[in-house]
Amino acid sequence: MLKESRDAKGKTAYLILDGTTYELPVIVGTENEHALDITKLRRETGYITFDPGYGNTGSCSSAITFVDGEKGILRYRGYPIEELAINGTFIETTYMLIFGELPTSTQRREFRELLCDQELLHEDLRHHFEGVPSNGHPMAILSAVINSLGCYYPDLLQIENEDEFLRAAAKIISKVRTIAAWSYRKAHGLPFMYPDPKLSYCRNFLHMMHSIPHRYFEPTDEQVRALSLFFLLHADHEQNCSCSTVRMVQSTEANLFASVSAGICALWGRLHGGANAGVIKMLEEIHDGDATIPDYLERVKRKEFRLMGFGHRIYKSFDPRAKILRQATHDMLESTGYDDPLLDIALELADAALSDDYFIERKLYPNVDFYSGIILRALGIPVDMFPVMFAIGRMPGWIAHWNETNTDGTTRIHRPRQIYMGESTRHYVPIEERK
Ligand code: ACO
Repeated sequence: MLKESRDAKGKTAYLILDGTTYELPVIVGTENEHALDITKLRRETGYITFDPGYGNTGSCSSAITFVDGEKGILRYRGYPIEELAINGTFIETTYMLIFGELPTSTQRREFRELLCDQELLHEDLRHHFEGVPSNGHPMAILSAVINSLGCYYPDLLQIENEDEFLRAAAKIISKVRTIAAWSYRKAHGLPFMYPDPKLSYCRNFLHMMHSIPHRYFEPTDEQVRALSLFFLLHADHEQNCSCSTVRMVQSTEANLFASVSAGICALWGRLHGGANAGVIKMLEEIHDGDATIPDYLERVKRKEFRLMGFGHRIYKSFDPRAKILRQATHDMLESTGYDDPLLDIALELADAALSDDYFIERKLYPNVDFYSGIILRALGIPVDMFPVMFAIGRMPGWIAHWNETNTDGTTRIHRPRQIYMGESTRHYVPIEERK
């Protein structure tokens, strides 16, 4: 039995187990979120909690990102995502997520210069790209090459101070673009384009993706802004699967390169960063006449598959990122004159799902992945690069979380428990006696 009361120290919960009462302190976050502190539960009671998928488990306290899924609120370091989307850039947001404050103009300039200094890859790293088959998935290349960066900077494998952290973080944030673009060039048999220090972060990435020697790709300002917005909206989302993976790997005191590389692997799955590619596949099937919207929704309701880009573990009224992207997608297509029939299908599909009882009852809304693929298509990004784009955007969040666990002084190695449901002790049977 679990009771709650308020005493002189604040709120305390009382757990009564087998006639004994145990106190469970209540932790209250700055946004009035409440948690039962069970850190002494097993030691004092012999019980553990059972929470597959961790839907009710606070694995840490964090000062980076706040999400209220019921109200559709997302704030990075206190700043509403809507304000950042209108006023901010990806690089400014990156700085703020990692260092806690928006940069002054000097800090922003210095940070940009630092990123420029770090944009080249060690020439030996070219062999990594040459050694993989041309149909190798770019997420596999990205995670492998990011992890391999650690081999080139052994002095940054054990980060002891802020300066070392800044150097390692800047290397990853800058080089991830180059690695991502080169994985695409490798897959398409195109020459690697070197970064151009005169270009801004997003323009430079598009240059490495789409320029060819002696012919520069010149994106429009709208395209550059759309890419910056895409990255900014993906920059962090508190303790999602990939972020928790990064924190878990860090808890062993693994280095930054290895930890974020593990985050990339976690992101790859189609229920996480792979969902935006699934959305485009779905919209293309409808577009090509392989399925109609009503048929598609019927099959989803029969649970043959999930509606990709819909639903979220946390958001139960709307995903604020999806709302921003829906508008941005529309604006960008209009300003660039790029007409994508998949947008109309997406809008129609979303409207049909949002008025269907199956989705209403389960509080399923479009998530950030529902519209992001259409923006990426308009930027000439192929579908297998979609999760890579997500990973570039999420990098500042992973790095900020890694640093938070690395410096808070209270992190213990992450080691969940389990309820064992297997065989009890049994004895070894020689092979000739086995049936
Ligand atoms: N389509 C159809 N039904 C769904 C969907 C969906 N996209 N999402 C959830 N449901 C249903 C489930 O079948 C379940 O129904 P039931 O109660 O009848 O069994 C109910 O809604 C609750 O679903 P859960 O699986 O408990 O939800 P959970 O929080 O575990 O999953 C997730 C969240 C993984 C995002 C899920 O909604 C999903 O699979 N969505 C599609 C993939 C996707 O878009 N992923 C991107 C997430 S956002 C991101 O990573 C940036």
